[in-house]
Amino acid sequence: MKFKGEHILSVNQFDRDSIQAVFDVADQMTPYALRQKRTKVLDGAILGNLFFEPSTRTRVSFGTAFNLLGGEVRETTGMSNSALAKGESLFDTARVLSGYSDIIAMRHPDSGSVSEFAEGSRVPVINGGDGPNEHPTQALLDLYTISKEQQYHGGSIDGIHIAMIGDLKYGRTVHSLSKLLSLFNNVHFTLISPKELGMPESILETLRSAGHTVEVTEQLEGSVDADICYQTRIQEERFESQDEANKYRGKFRLNQSIYTKHFKSKTVIMHPLPRDSRADANELDNDLNMNPNLAIFRQTDNGVLVRMALFALTLGVENLVTKYDREVHWFSTKC
Ligand code: NCD
Repeated sequence: MKFKGEHILSVNQFDRDSIQAVFDVADQMTPYALRQKRTKVLDGAILGNLFFEPSTRTRVSFGTAFNLLGGEVRETTGMSNSALAKGESLFDTARVLSGYSDIIAMRHPDSGSVSEFAEGSRVPVINGGDGPNEHPTQALLDLYTISKEQQYHGGSIDGIHIAMIGDLKYGRTVHSLSKLLSLFNNVHFTLISPKELGMPESILETLRSAGHTVEVTEQLEGSVDADICYQTRIQEERFESQDEANKYRGKFRLNQSIYTKHFKSKTVIMHPLPRDSRADANELDNDLNMNPNLAIFRQTDNGVLVRMALFALTLGVENLVTKYDREVHWFSTKC
């Protein structure tokens, strides 16, 4: 896969070599993300960070990643604050905003919208989530985290057993992550969701035809010999009505006692976040916060590294980062 000047719209663009290329550059970004060093390699470049759907970590980590490479960020948030609410087409918005930016990160509630936008853009576009369809940068940061966690336990991505829990129908993160995992060997998927919220058939077909083991179940039962437990949020914003979404609220809770009952003592707990911590949902209980296997904040930290790597590769500066190094003069608490 060629990165320089290309859009990143779907995980389907990636193969194992290009995933490794992203991971190698992400590793090199660590001292900058930890503020041990600075780089000005993207001095003068502008990121258009366009979020037409709610976001905290994806939007801010795209911006942080760009700033850490020395670039500047212009943002627009919310549909109602943009000209899309006046009937402007995605093509026109793309044409205009790509004149103000060197690269664009975009999130939008409709499947396929980011690709449509990219057709009008004069600069590379990175998909920050298009409705229930895809979330490629989240999948890359999840996979990067899985790779690090597996390395820590002396394993690798090949041969892993992952349990995915919750809303597998509308959850774009599990769609993209499953497709990336399907590029590896011998992956065992245990997919736990109500029938109505199951993984789309086309993705199941991709996993099965690549020779992976796929178990589909409606409940967390017995002991699940998984290396990774990937919990998700019920995507209530994608349901026809709130009542419909409420039927599933609180059905898939994970707390320390449920974890101990069903998982191995070293099973890594992941979640793309935000976790719904309201009492009637509470899908990932605070009593897991001190569990060393809880990787959710390692995921969010890794998100900056992976997004820095994607910017560096797409703008063709991955080999110049150290050349534009600066020292850090202030005291950093990061470690
Ligand atoms: C996810 C998303 O927006 O798809 N969040 C994220 O980007 N980290 C998951 C979610 O909202 O449940």
